[in-house]
Parts: sequence; C-alpha cells; structure tokens
Amino acid sequence: MQLHKYERIWLILGIVSLIVFLAILAYGAFWKGTHPQSAMETVDPANVSANEHFKEDNLGLTKVDDNQYVLNVIASSFNFDLGKDDEGKPVKKVRVPKGSSVLFQITTTDVVHGFNVAGTNANMMVEPGHISRDEIQLNRPGIYTIVCNEYCGIGHHQMFAELEVYE
Ligand code: CUA
Repeated sequence: MQLHKYERIWLILGIVSLIVFLAILAYGAFWKGTHPQSAMETVDPANVSANEHFKEDNLGLTKVDDNQYVLNVIASSFNFDLGKDDEGKPVKKVRVPKGSSVLFQITTTDVVHGFNVAGTNANMMVEPGHISRDEIQLNRPGIYTIVCNEYCGIGHHQMFAELEVYE
C-alpha cells in the first residue's frame, strides 16, 4: 500500500497521541485511583430517613476514627441538610483537622443535584434514588465551599455549605 508522506506523519501522530492519552487514563485510573463516584446503593427518595445514613441523628459530620470522618448529607431544593447543632439550628459549616479523610454520602429527595467541594476532587452528581459516595483526603487547610453544580431550579445558586480544614 502506498501512503503519502504527510499521510503517514498524520497517521503516526494520531496513533501516538491515542497511546499517550490511554496511558494517562490508565495512570490516573490504576495508579492514582481516580474513578467515578459510586452510586450503586439505592434508597427510596420519598423516605430517605429510612436509610441508616440519612436518619436525623446520623446527618452531618461524624468522627469514625482518628482523622476519619463521614459526612452524611441530604440534598433537596435548595438546601444541603447537614443535620442540626446542639441548639437545634441547621448546620451550614463543618470542620475537620488537616490530613483528615472524609467520606461523603449524599442523596436527594427531589431532583438531580450536584455536590462539589470546590478545589478538591470531590465532585458528584446526586441522583434521586441513589447514594453518591466519595472519599477524599484533605491536606490543605482552608475554607472550602460545598456547592451544588447541577442546575436544579430557581434557588440553585443558594445551595451551598462550607467545609473548613484547620491546622
Ligand atoms: Cu441543587 Cu443546584
């Protein structure tokens, strides 16, 4: 088969870039552990509190071990329910020490919402009927805004909370 010189160059360039892209993908997936969120577990969206993680007492931040936390959240239009504080007021901010690992477990009672801890890899779609899960380690102190990044209606921009990582 006769290939024109430029055709051959382009072909090689295409194949090489494909190999490079696949190698980057494989590196991310197998060495860096990058993976899509888990949404395997299902829940009744009309009765999320029947699920252990989303019972009123289990909402919000729980320390499970040294530097290990679980954050259970119910998303709904237009709020992230992180439980209530000692005075019965809704929690809007949670704090963990630097170096902590936090497992986020989120579900929604109505429409599709997003759950993104801005500036980190925690970025999930939250679908009715499913529990979205992701665990990240927080090594950089600071205040991270948790935002809904799926347009969910008129109050979408008001759906946020805060996560503080302290020294
Ligand atoms: Cu919830 Cu946008």
